[in-house]
Amino acid sequence: MKNSLLLPFLYIISICLPFFQVQALHLDIHDDDSIRSTINSMTGELMNYWNGTDCKFVSSYWWLTGASMTVLLNNGILFDNNTYTDLVSKSLMYNAGSDHDYQPSDEYFNLGNDDQGIWGAAAMDAAELNLKQVDDSSASWLEISQAAFNRISGRWDNVNCNGGVRWQAFPWLSGYTYKNSISNGLLFQLAARLARFTGDSSYEDWVNRIWDWSTSSGFVNTTNYSVYDGSKASTNCTTIDHSQWSYNLGVYMTGVAYMYNYTQGDNIWKKRLDGFISHATSFFINNGIAWDPQCENTGTCNIDQTAFKGILMQSFGNAIRLAPYTRSKLYPLIETSATAAALACSGGYSGNSCGVHWSWDNSTWDGTYGVGQQFSALEAVQMLYVDKYPKLVTLSNSSDNRSNSSYASANSTTDNYEVNVSRPTEADRGGAGFLTFLAAFLLLGVSIWAMIEDEEGKIPSRTHQSNTETFEDKKKDETIMNV
Ligand SMILES: *[C@@H]1O[C@H](CO)[C@@H](O)[C@H](O)[C@H]1NC(C)=O
Ligand SMILES: *[C@@H]1O[C@H](CO)[C@@H](O)[C@H](O)[C@H]1NC(C)=O
Ligand SMILES: *[C@@H]1O[C@H](CO)[C@@H](O)[C@H](O)[C@H]1NC(C)=O
Ligand SMILES: *[C@@H]1O[C@H](CO)[C@@H](O)[C@H](O)[C@H]1NC(C)=O
Ligand SMILES: *[C@@H]1O[C@H](CO)[C@@H](O)[C@H](O)[C@H]1NC(C)=O
Ligand SMILES: *[C@@H]1O[C@H](CO)[C@@H](O)[C@H](O)[C@H]1NC(C)=O
Ligand SMILES: *[C@@H]1O[C@H](CO)[C@@H](O)[C@H](O)[C@H]1NC(C)=O
Ligand SMILES: *[C@@H]1O[C@H](CO)[C@@H](O)[C@H](O)[C@H]1NC(C)=O
Ligand SMILES: *[C@@H]1O[C@H](CO)[C@@H](O)[C@H](O)[C@H]1NC(C)=O
Ligand SMILES: *[C@@H]1O[C@H](CO)[C@@H](O)[C@H](O)[C@H]1NC(C)=O
Ligand SMILES: *[C@@H]1O[C@H](CO)[C@@H](O)[C@H](O)[C@H]1NC(C)=O
Ligand SMILES: *[C@@H]1O[C@H](CO)[C@@H](O)[C@H](O)[C@H]1NC(C)=O
Repeated sequence: MKNSLLLPFLYIISICLPFFQVQALHLDIHDDDSIRSTINSMTGELMNYWNGTDCKFVSSYWWLTGASMTVLLNNGILFDNNTYTDLVSKSLMYNAGSDHDYQPSDEYFNLGNDDQGIWGAAAMDAAELNLKQVDDSSASWLEISQAAFNRISGRWDNVNCNGGVRWQAFPWLSGYTYKNSISNGLLFQLAARLARFTGDSSYEDWVNRIWDWSTSSGFVNTTNYSVYDGSKASTNCTTIDHSQWSYNLGVYMTGVAYMYNYTQGDNIWKKRLDGFISHATSFFINNGIAWDPQCENTGTCNIDQTAFKGILMQSFGNAIRLAPYTRSKLYPLIETSATAAALACSGGYSGNSCGVHWSWDNSTWDGTYGVGQQFSALEAVQMLYVDKYPKLVTLSNSSDNRSNSSYASANSTTDNYEVNVSRPTEADRGGAGFLTFLAAFLLLGVSIWAMIEDEEGKIPSRTHQSNTETFEDKKKDETIMNV
């Protein structure tokens, strides 16, 4: 699994690719068959990365599997097609770990509050869609989500910045020094969804606590609803990284849409929802098409960033479902984004792998592929069916009424251990993050298998201090994607 294997593969890829750059997916948004075959193609490409042994995608990060569970779950219900239903339930359970809190032993020493938050949100999807639980004796989907919420909120830290949770969960991880919008935005969203689902007012208290902190810290600026990336805790959040990424706004916007619905259209939440929609359409839409200007302008989107537009598309869909008045503004943007995303899918071995750059909008694949690209494009196209999305249940009409607001609420780090693995030392983890990469193309099949080996134990990624440290990382990620 070392670099020696990589070169021959890259050679094969570079020889073969020109032959496979066939037609993009030509999506006709007014034709049901066209939409469905586009969705099936995109799903198939996504599932080429599935590893059934550990219930995760290969060549990707853990959170991306969590995010993808949402699109697969809705796919199965929308098309009454249970091809992946068991796979999704099994993955949601397996990745929750033995304590049912999304701190599984194989991710524990890499755990980000954002990773745990996105998985908690996926379990919430399962609860809201009334997905049958795999094993009657284990926790309900709601309880699993409550556990993730309790773990993350248990790390709320008033010592620095007057509140907020950090990016990474534990002190031995380098991102522990950073507080950011994605972690706090996901916690906010979880609190909002738990409030709506259970009607328990303590979740609403958390909603308000996180919202107030997010705005007073300046991470969310309510003058024009910019959502900034984050800040080092050591500066007391006085020095904010002002980079803006679509998924940061997206996770807050979804939470706000839930609160709007839960409060039956409260004006306070309407104003906030309108604020995010207005900022999203001015900042993350280019000629009607979703984009992340910070990396797409320069062609430097890393593995995480390829998935951000999928989260933005989810938030557009959630706004339409929970606040139907927003449909007239958002649905046309889903149509134009979906059309452009499909045009960007003419790459890779099959000729239908999707790229990151949708706003090119000219049938040109950008040369990148991966789980994030497939996830984002699939979210855009599947959201064309937002009006047919299933109704959400609450605790009162769920078929599984198990709820436990104190599930996994103990929050001392030693209590959280599931396995007796010694903590990695700084020396073990090395200095700067480094990835080695192996891409193995099964030449006789359509599957693309790729693996990442993370020597450090923590992949430097996401948007963390994006304007300073990640240039080298981005270059590495770019090398990975641009074969
Ligand atoms: C069900 O989904 C699978 C996987 O996406 C697809 O291959 C199959 O064609 C679908 N079945 C129908 C009847 O659409
Ligand atoms: C799939 O997961 C198993 C268990 O973690 C691992 O041993 C195997 O290498 C993985 N396969 C790929 C292709 O990554
Ligand atoms: C929002 O941004 C504006 C300027 O961009 C700034 O003047 C204002 O202080 C910010 N608000 C907060 C609460 O940080
Ligand atoms: C509004 O948003 C833009 C882009 O996000 C930002 O540069 C600007 O400072 C903001 N202005 C105010 C008044 O908040
Ligand atoms: C951060 O703010 C708190 C309370 O406002 C203060 O006690 C602490 O010293 C500050 N820390 C730094 C590093 O400025
Ligand atoms: C809340 O969501 C439901 C289901 O989508 C919708 O019918 C209802 O109109 C929404 N409530 C408000 C106040 O928009
Ligand atoms: C499509 O747009 C991109 C970005 O503007 C450009 O680099 C590329 O050459 C265009 N491709 C075609 C076929 O026009
Ligand atoms: C479940 O109940 C809620 C109200 O508590 C309602 O809005 C929703 O439509 C119901 N879901 C289903 C699937 O009937
Ligand atoms: C939960 O459901 C079971 C049976 O479906 C019922 O006996 C029980 O009373 C319910 N509990 C609550 C709190 O509604
Ligand atoms: C709720 O979770 C707590 C902590 O995990 C546990 O001690 C308690 O027994 C659970 N309550 C129920 C009713 O399952
Ligand atoms: C979680 O930790 C905080 C701060 O260390 C503490 O105040 C709180 O009581 C803890 N909560 C539980 C449920 O242990
Ligand atoms: C893990 O370590 C604790 C404390 O050292 C010990 O009590 C426990 O038995 C160990 N568990 C396993 C599975 O080895």
